[in-house]
Amino acid sequence: LLGMPAYAVIGGQWGDEGKGKVIDYLAGNVDSVVRYAGGNNAGHTVVNEKGTFQLHLVPSGICWPDVYGIIGNGVVVDPDVLVNELAEIGARGIDTSKLVISERAHVIMPYHVVLDALEEEARGDAAIGTTGRGIGPAYMDKTGRMGIRIGDLLDWEALVPMVTQVLEHKNALITKVYGGKALALDDVLAKCRIWADHMAPYAMATEQLVQDLLGQNKRVLLEGAQGTLLDIDHGSYPYVTSSSPSIGGACTGLGLNPQAIKGVLGVFKAYSTRVGSGPMPSEITDDEAEEIREKAQEFGVTTGRARRIGWFDGVAAKYSQLINGFTGIVLTRLDILDEFDSVKVCVGYEVSGERLDRFPANTGLLARCKPVFEEMPGWDKPTASATELSQLPENALAYVHKIEELVGCRAQIISTGPSRAETIQVEPVFT
Ligand code: IMP
Repeated sequence: LLGMPAYAVIGGQWGDEGKGKVIDYLAGNVDSVVRYAGGNNAGHTVVNEKGTFQLHLVPSGICWPDVYGIIGNGVVVDPDVLVNELAEIGARGIDTSKLVISERAHVIMPYHVVLDALEEEARGDAAIGTTGRGIGPAYMDKTGRMGIRIGDLLDWEALVPMVTQVLEHKNALITKVYGGKALALDDVLAKCRIWADHMAPYAMATEQLVQDLLGQNKRVLLEGAQGTLLDIDHGSYPYVTSSSPSIGGACTGLGLNPQAIKGVLGVFKAYSTRVGSGPMPSEITDDEAEEIREKAQEFGVTTGRARRIGWFDGVAAKYSQLINGFTGIVLTRLDILDEFDSVKVCVGYEVSGERLDRFPANTGLLARCKPVFEEMPGWDKPTASATELSQLPENALAYVHKIEELVGCRAQIISTGPSRAETIQVEPVFT
């Protein structure tokens, strides 16, 4: 591990920070891009000279033909979604032959999607607002030790009794607890047959591949999905996803040892957004929120839902830094704030008149946190499409410095627009 050349790109907020763009931008200088958590709840947008791509499972380095796209063991895979996605981008001239999937990755089975909807409905007012893709139920079965893995699909003899037993349990749950309609074993097995054929060419021991690449001193880029505040352990539980988007997930979700990771980039949007339910202390619902939503088109890539909007939350960001140990910040969508007379940043919380400067574990307490905003002057010259730090107006630069100060590390990249070229490389990421 001469150069320890693995670098992670991690969502510092509630997801949707623009990781897809960042990965596509950085992937030209790496040998592989690896997804380690989540599934097709993610929606990573990539814009380059080949077009605009909305990726859910395929790693965002796919537009670079020489780069391996690796789906690690920590990801949950809906084979139908993957096959469709590969066909779609393949039809648009993208070479997908360097994609591989861990044989240890868990499969999102048809009953997981059914149960995701039934569980949400049963939660009533306490619904999480999941993406409905079966993510939670698939991870529940993984930890409950009744999951079906990609490798299992390839062993038909062993698979049939496994699926038969699990489906019996799931059908009891679906019908007796939720009053839903049972799934037919033949249908589920027929799906598995098709999936086995489709997945066989991609399945492999990805931990070995990653290790081999690192051994050859090749760069590995770890692609986070969702964000730290949606982490099953560290996020605003229970309003979280069911995997570990933060740095620990990169190790367990790939079978990678932490010494291999040299840099950890925290991707932060210049403001905050959140999709789904759960507390969001710096949320705003006024005209400015509407302006940001419209200008930035803050609607979910996966579900089309309008995202909730807030100012940059420095308390949450500092917590995110504590969990991940970011070595650098990637600040995205700075251009969205271009036309505001003034911008705000949340520098602390207040609960019942008392100041709180940390992100609380208790969800009820987090929900009672009122933001303490600091107002900063806006900037008159646009930052949109800037490619040099010197092109940023003074007040925009002051805003960047404020965020650096709140997070506690430097901005290495600033994104000033959706396409690959609209990027300021402040300092080198790969050292
Ligand atoms: P699930 O991951 O579908 O179970 O959804 C759980 C929570 O995470 C919900 O609030 C979702 O809106 C949120 N979530 C899941 N994936 C993403 C994402 O890629 N971006 C933003 N929010 C997400």
